[in-house]
Amino acid sequence: MYSIIRSLLFKLDPELAHHLAMKTFKLLHGFGLLYCLKEPKTSPRLVMGLKFKNLVGLAAGLDKNAEYIDCLSKLGFGFIEVGTVTPNPQPGNEKPRSFRLTEEEGIINRFGFNNVGIHQVINNIKKSSYKGVLGINIGKNFNTKIENAVQDYLICFRESYAYASYITINISSPNTKGLRDLQQGKYLENLLNKLKIEQSKLKKLHGKYVPVAIKISPDNSQKELSVICNLLLKYKLDAVIATNTSVSRKEVINSVYVKEEGGLSGKPLQKKSLSTIKFLHNKLNGKIPIIGVGGIMSADDAKQKIKYGSELIQIYSGLIFKGHRLVHEICRATN
Ligand code: FNR
Repeated sequence: MYSIIRSLLFKLDPELAHHLAMKTFKLLHGFGLLYCLKEPKTSPRLVMGLKFKNLVGLAAGLDKNAEYIDCLSKLGFGFIEVGTVTPNPQPGNEKPRSFRLTEEEGIINRFGFNNVGIHQVINNIKKSSYKGVLGINIGKNFNTKIENAVQDYLICFRESYAYASYITINISSPNTKGLRDLQQGKYLENLLNKLKIEQSKLKKLHGKYVPVAIKISPDNSQKELSVICNLLLKYKLDAVIATNTSVSRKEVINSVYVKEEGGLSGKPLQKKSLSTIKFLHNKLNGKIPIIGVGGIMSADDAKQKIKYGSELIQIYSGLIFKGHRLVHEICRATN
């Protein structure tokens, strides 16, 4: 069934196809027509002190504005991450800003955090009836200087705290100028320090502990990763999500889109994401859980991520190329 839908959607521009698919999906859900979608085999996991129905999550970026949580939950995900959301609404980069590399099973995107802003995203979350694990992925506005970025994260952090099961700090998107600099020692230490202070204040205020995850890039050198790991351990982060998209084009040199700027995801990202996870696993020694993401297109890919140290996984491109049967296949294979 999905192969028919896919062949129609793949005839359209990727961004248009996305909106069309999501709006139709929401409509079907509204009419109660998604009852035929079955729950996958469940095998609950306890990570970050949270109970996950299964280990497969939806990665950030697909539902940036938290508009589709209820219908997405029908696809069988064990958790859903919305965002990236910034303090103020912003339109993102000029179109076209998403490119489908069909043969390579990859996507290049340079959306640049187009979103309706944290206030509206929280309103959308309040309207949803989803009761599962919900991650809110936060970032900085395009025009916020890197020196002031911490303030943007703190604004989103405070607004999200009461509504998130966990909060992801996105410092790894390649599409916001300077954002990845926040992974460097001096910026990262300041950011983590301020977030941990805020987390303990908010814990008292709300009477609940909301875990914090950091999402990192696949393009870091081992030296850079080492610095990141030491800081994650020092500040006792709750999880690390590895990885975001890559600026490398090594795996797609023959694609017509090779010169397009942006982050590459899907199958061509798999190796880089895996080697980052392996490195993290060695350095963190099981002290901080890893959420593995990047190029999971089959149950075997998911098993590989787990073998190399991931406790949970997330998918985005795999859902676009394979449909939601991928969630079920992974659940079956990892039960
Ligand atoms: C993303 N991704 C992403 N990540 C994030 O933290 N915030 C975001 O807003 C987005 N936006 C986004 C848009 C599009 C079109 C894609 C394809 C990806 C990255 C995503 O969450 C994931 O980390 C990577 O795509 C790698 O996983 P896959 O796609 O290979 O399964």
